[in-house]
Amino acid sequence: MKSSEIRSLYLDFFREKGHSVVPGIGLIPFDDPTLLFTSAGMVQFKKFWATDTPLPYTRATTCQKCMRAGGKDSDIDKIGITGRHHTFFEMLGNFSFGDYFKKEAIEWAWEFVIERLKIPEELIWVSYYEKDDETKEIWKKFLPEERIIPLSEKDNFWGPAGDTGPCGPCTELYVDFGIEKGCGSNCKPGCECSRFLEFWNLVFPQYDKQKDGSLAPLKRRGVDTGMGLERITRIMQKTNSNYETDLFLPIVKEIERISGYSYDSEEKKPSFRITSDHIRAAVFLIDENVLPSNEGRGYVLRRIIRR
Ligand code: ALA
Repeated sequence: MKSSEIRSLYLDFFREKGHSVVPGIGLIPFDDPTLLFTSAGMVQFKKFWATDTPLPYTRATTCQKCMRAGGKDSDIDKIGITGRHHTFFEMLGNFSFGDYFKKEAIEWAWEFVIERLKIPEELIWVSYYEKDDETKEIWKKFLPEERIIPLSEKDNFWGPAGDTGPCGPCTELYVDFGIEKGCGSNCKPGCECSRFLEFWNLVFPQYDKQKDGSLAPLKRRGVDTGMGLERITRIMQKTNSNYETDLFLPIVKEIERISGYSYDSEEKKPSFRITSDHIRAAVFLIDENVLPSNEGRGYVLRRIIRR
């Protein structure tokens, strides 16, 4: 399945479930001085949970351009080392603002993964926030208990994007690439080895983190999910990393042509990954009029180009 088909399948599925298909915003958030870049699909919707502003819709779905380079959410140091992190990537998401909550979010995630993407259900594992028994109970309708893994706040409490704003417990879906990719017979989601790939995070925003670090209740609780398009494409196209999918292969091939090196060389692979990741990031930043400079966003772009 092509990445463009996955994008449409996702948005169409959530349209069928009553969501408005809303365009993503730019990489520079338009009214959010707390963020260097748009780092998640939820960024444009923060005030829908945190204030009682009138709502144009109570359910939305988007495909959002994201940048995780510079600032709190930066993944820049992982690029090249893993085959699954990016500075620039696309996030598919469905959102509820005071509308549906855990039950529907989980049931629809399952339906999409099993019935639309047709991923064999025995490959799916999930993690949940260890104090969130409600989420565990919902997953038990679909999965045996040994594939429902409790994790701590570090892994399964998401947000806010930036220092303040909506955040809450989350539950993540993983695909199992098989025991032979793992670090031992007892490895589970949460382990840093290559056996499990997390591809969809379902967050249940309930709190509004304040400047002093305290958690106030949100005006409207809801749902904020994020599925990495590059990761789900890798799963659907059965490649060894995100960099061999149709989202990256044309760039990798062009780097081979220009450099004369082969991506198949283990020694050169990290360089190919960094270069192809960073070219996408630089192009999308320049498209939004960011130019290399000594500070802020321009400095991140300069670092990306230099690297
Ligand atoms: N906002 C959540 C994330 O970025 C879905 O993982």
